[in-house]
Amino acid sequence: MLIDSFNREVNYLRVSVTERCNFRCRYCMAEKPFSWVPKENLLSYEELFSFIKISIDSGIRKIRITGGEPTTRENLDELIAMIHTYAPEVDIGLTTNGFLLPAMAQKLKRAGLKRVNISLDSLEKETLHYIAQKDVLESVLKGIDAAIDAGLSVKINSVILRGINDHEIGSLFEYAQNIGAQIRYIEYMENIHASDGIKGLASFEILSELSKTHSFSRIVNEKSGPANLYETSKGYRFGTIEPHRHDFCATCDRLRLSAEGDLIGCLYFEGAKNIKEAIRNGDTQEAYKMLAEVVDNKPEKNLWGIENVEISSRAFYRTGG
Ligand code: 5AD
Ligand code: SF4
Repeated sequence: MLIDSFNREVNYLRVSVTERCNFRCRYCMAEKPFSWVPKENLLSYEELFSFIKISIDSGIRKIRITGGEPTTRENLDELIAMIHTYAPEVDIGLTTNGFLLPAMAQKLKRAGLKRVNISLDSLEKETLHYIAQKDVLESVLKGIDAAIDAGLSVKINSVILRGINDHEIGSLFEYAQNIGAQIRYIEYMENIHASDGIKGLASFEILSELSKTHSFSRIVNEKSGPANLYETSKGYRFGTIEPHRHDFCATCDRLRLSAEGDLIGCLYFEGAKNIKEAIRNGDTQEAYKMLAEVVDNKPEKNLWGIENVEISSRAFYRTGG
């Protein structure tokens, strides 16, 4: 078991397979980076899998594949199949923008994928085009349908931005409810890679808007990862993710691995250890040592809202959000 110095069990690994993305969401990767990480600097699937095996042997029980946009890396099903064959009990999820899912959902499911979180910030063609800087609504909706048809468990992630999609809180809710998927409203996290002037809604504003049309209450005893869960009087569950909350980090159970091999204890801190060399040398012991050190040095909490504190400038698209 991996236990950090604040007595939190670390059992969840997020693995970014690429920083590249086929969208340019204004809150994430508003512009194409000056250069992409060269492909030879990326860990191959075999190399990622070598580290994933070590982490599973050490106590990791949940793995989420992220990016950038993970489906843009070729043959993603191969990595999923490797993990699933090695440890069928490990819960494998994928976070995706859904664009490429129509052709991939079945294959990913067959490889052993269990769940997908699909980003959907608008149900209006023009609005989503504005946010993602690409005309994507139709493909994303098809991707969501394909995931459901393939038998994957689907959640919808929505980031609500002031003056852009804040009139769609209710319609996104209805859509998710109708397809039987949990919607999670993620508070916008400020970062230097976003477009100027982007502002997010706080979750209390989102909840207050929803309360005009729905009655719901907070489910206190159940945690769903970092989300706060709510249930309507009709039994539909939805969530909010509030990284700005003071107790957001108290139950954090995760580490992140970037596509280049940076093992990261917290999204909001620069600190990382690169496991690439150890893995390329086949030095399992050294890789395990690094894993143990990153767990040991996992920061207690993020520093949102504390004045004059620099948060990491590492882009969320490099660490999978
Ligand atoms: N703030 C909040 N959510 C973000 N995401 C990406 N960047 C940000 C940000 N700056 C979301 C995406 C996706 C998930 C991986 O994180 O919309 O749903
Ligand atoms: Fe790509 Fe996801 Fe970032 Fe949008 S939020 S640019 S889809 S990585």
